[in-house]
Amino acid sequence: MRYTYTNYMSYERIRQLRELLNYHNRKYYVDNSPEISDFEFDKLMRELIDLEAAHPEYADPASPTARVGSDITTEFATVHHRFPMLSLSNTYSIAELREFVERVEKEIGPTEFVCELKFDGTAISLTYENGRLVQAATRGDGENGDDVTANAKTIRAIPLTLTGNNYPPLFEIRGEILMPYASFDRLNAEREAAGEPLFANPRNAAAGTLKQQQSAIVAKRGLDCTLYQLAGNALPHQSQWENMQEARKWGFKISDKMRICHSFNEIEEYIAYWDTARKELPFPTDGVVIKVNRYADQRALGFTSKAPKWAVAYKFKAEQALTKLLSVDFQVGRTGAITPVANLEPVQLAGTTVKRATLHNAEQIAQLDIRLGDMVYVEKSGEIIPKITGVELARRPADSRAFAFVTTCPVCGTPLAQYEGEVKMYCPNQSHCRPQILGRIIHFIRRKAMNIDGLGAETVELLFESGLVNDIADLYDLHATDLASLPRLGDKSADNIIRSIAASREVPFNRVLFGLGIRFVGETTAKYLAAHFKNIDALMQASAAELMESDEVGAKIADSIIDYFADEGNRKIIARLRKAGLQFAMEQSELLSKVLAGKNIVVSGKFAEHSRDELKTLIEAHGGKNQSGVAANTDFIVAGENMGPAKLQKAQKLGVRIVSESEFMAIIATADNAGNTDDKPTASTDKTTTADAPVQGSLF
Ligand code: IVH
Repeated sequence: MRYTYTNYMSYERIRQLRELLNYHNRKYYVDNSPEISDFEFDKLMRELIDLEAAHPEYADPASPTARVGSDITTEFATVHHRFPMLSLSNTYSIAELREFVERVEKEIGPTEFVCELKFDGTAISLTYENGRLVQAATRGDGENGDDVTANAKTIRAIPLTLTGNNYPPLFEIRGEILMPYASFDRLNAEREAAGEPLFANPRNAAAGTLKQQQSAIVAKRGLDCTLYQLAGNALPHQSQWENMQEARKWGFKISDKMRICHSFNEIEEYIAYWDTARKELPFPTDGVVIKVNRYADQRALGFTSKAPKWAVAYKFKAEQALTKLLSVDFQVGRTGAITPVANLEPVQLAGTTVKRATLHNAEQIAQLDIRLGDMVYVEKSGEIIPKITGVELARRPADSRAFAFVTTCPVCGTPLAQYEGEVKMYCPNQSHCRPQILGRIIHFIRRKAMNIDGLGAETVELLFESGLVNDIADLYDLHATDLASLPRLGDKSADNIIRSIAASREVPFNRVLFGLGIRFVGETTAKYLAAHFKNIDALMQASAAELMESDEVGAKIADSIIDYFADEGNRKIIARLRKAGLQFAMEQSELLSKVLAGKNIVVSGKFAEHSRDELKTLIEAHGGKNQSGVAANTDFIVAGENMGPAKLQKAQKLGVRIVSESEFMAIIATADNAGNTDDKPTASTDKTTTADAPVQGSLF
């Protein structure tokens, strides 16, 4: 294109408008101090939209016009988190919080804590390259999340370009996407008017909105975003507090409610204050997060397999409401478990309307002596569905009626059964009870299991109704033409589903095992079982005693596994899945990482957080080799308490490095941080865990 004066002027104006709009956007959404009216803002935006339309050659994905969103439907690509997004240990108890502070101070001495609000939304990780937003990803399972960049760009509190100049060339910043109460109320009012189902609470609404397939819808929903953690290799400071102050200067919305506390008492005061004051905040919070401030201290404290040991979330006690119990429904879950669900007179609770609550089981109903017509207390316990916690006996009406727990399945009529040692009632009709069949298929396709995209609960129902899918193995016999003939499914969605089913053949063994839906075999247990038995044949042949040799498996789980494989129907399904090409064995490449590849490691002594077997499993899972004795080729020893003196002597003689349990956990955490990709250098096992090691600022 020829460079003309007019073009140059247009470009100058585009540049100027972008700068202006970014500035005013920040003033409005981040600093809460607008300088121009909405009308003026919209006028500038309109001008920019028109100019960009006339000059596509100046398009820029980070332009403020990206915030308008688009009505193109997007599928979310899966992205691997460079630094895993761990969760936090939770507590509702001040005593436990005191123990946390004491434990920290015992290990590293008196130190600073940063107290922050725990925002009740959905976690987000934003990646900035050279000051521009390049990716926004949801937490997903902590290792992989959804790429929601187009949606995140519509959120005005998220800067598309940064201000200042001392941000690292590449970094991630993490925080929470929130739906302020005002947006939530407006959204639900609109949905009610349109006859659409309402969102249960602002957290669900935020999470649901972020996963909208049309960014133009997201743009209208009034989401907000507060950031609380930096991750990267060249962070400007070595503490949470300083980095957050710095990030504010780059244009991020960082809470001004965070405080540095020097003692347990100060932390307790912060909590006491916000437990009440939070009710005046315009957005939902559900607790306080307490973090050790300095990164060096964080590194010294390390991680457990799920959460950092340098932070804890104190959760506020749930608010209660009193309302009338109208009736009780009995729901059947995928394992056949029956859950009583209470229908309530609608009542306001923590900013939302509650109409239903769980009652757990017959024992609890009897214990609380809950009757129809009673005034009952409902509580929101961090979970989505509120629960009934008590009865106001003083207000029991004279005509209240006790109600009986069902004795037959409310769906298929089969008499209910109870397993030994369990309070729950179950419908034993696994193969013909509709909610169980559907539940198993829906569990199987979940992201954490086979991750079959495009198939939701509704489509599964359609497939079941049409007779195409009766069990999980039937999924692998589906053809695009079968699907396209279903109501509400076009060719494109049908193709996507088939592609996604095909891709699930590569899903690693541990997730296939989780997907089978064996009672009590959750995600973690499935990981341990897969690592221990290596393949399905070994697992199927294992006795209860052998099963219990695997970590996390006790008698209850062992029995459930044996029952599952004893069932002929289950064995047939596994045979068909195997024929369909699913992964029924662990492979080398399915290691959690290769950070310990080629390393010979000895585990010796007793450990505070893990059993020796757990550590050995972790070593193998990260590519290392377990050695029983110290030898010249030993790379390092993971030493606990009371390590054998002979081993110690030999190690000293050979100059073999000795690492503690927390150092070891930090090594593999670093591996997780670095990702599992082959092109990354494997972290050397020396240096990485010392306090001044050149790892990323914040060890997620
Ligand atoms: S820090 C490794 N700080 O709570 C620590 N999390 O229960 C990473 N959350 O997944 C989290 N407010 O979604 C942190 N001020 C805060 C938070 C916060 C809310 C959420 C976050 C996290 C979850 C953990």
